[in-house]
Amino acid sequence: MIVATTVAELRDARGADRVTALVPTMGALHAGHRRLIDVAHGTADQTAVSIFVNPLQFAAGEDLDRYPRTMDADLEVCASAGVAVVFAPGGDTMYPSGEPIVTVDPGPLGSELEGAVRPGHFRGVLTVVAKLFALVRPASAVFGEKDYQQLALIRQMAADLSTGVEVVSVETVRDSDGLALSSRNRYLAPNERATALALNGALRAGRQAGAEGAAAVLSAAKSVLASESELSVDYLELRAADLSPAPAAGGARLLVAARVGGTRLIDNLSVEIGEP
Ligand code: PAF
Repeated sequence: MIVATTVAELRDARGADRVTALVPTMGALHAGHRRLIDVAHGTADQTAVSIFVNPLQFAAGEDLDRYPRTMDADLEVCASAGVAVVFAPGGDTMYPSGEPIVTVDPGPLGSELEGAVRPGHFRGVLTVVAKLFALVRPASAVFGEKDYQQLALIRQMAADLSTGVEVVSVETVRDSDGLALSSRNRYLAPNERATALALNGALRAGRQAGAEGAAAVLSAAKSVLASESELSVDYLELRAADLSPAPAAGGARLLVAARVGGTRLIDNLSVEIGEP
């Protein structure tokens, strides 16, 4: 496994004739990332993992400074997963002139849901992903469904900007109790972790009410969230699978974001509205 920290090292490591799949990450790798790497292996000759905590996607007052940085453990995960190249640039490599003047506009969806609570977040995500695509030049890139809106926007960017990168999605990996794996779960104290289970509980309750219609889905999910007084909900929304307004019947997506103590968590699940 080659660890590249500069663009020149990345170019040497990538090899001109090998088809590469990219797994972009911010490190603090867990079993969810491991699943992304396994899927990536099946889409190309070699897998590259990028590890970069992207300051551009954090607003002032968010957790940029305390975001877990576990490079040694991350490299072990990558080596044992058969990753060919790890690209772990510093901020100076990704943003040599400081904050970029030209960035990727995520369009209207970028200011809804997560974007309404975290203004500028998706501009930062799309800008760094566009740069990673340009630097690594992968044929495919693999993202988890846990960040469902991020996935939708990256798909849109790949199509609208003709990046030529196939965007591959992977179902959310969960702990046995249903909690979606996230690098931020390590912020949770044991009692907070128990509270956080209400997110998945609400989504499952909503899914179960699908046959009774959209209002029933939201009401079932809301009552689970309301039963946890330590949970502060940012949003609970039912949307179409492409995140346009929810259909009256058919496939939809239920999305939730909430704070438990100082930790902000998101999750989502597919829901079938109306009689199957
Ligand atoms: O999902 C993440 O870890 C990040 O948002 C990404 C896609 C690596 C961009 O920094």
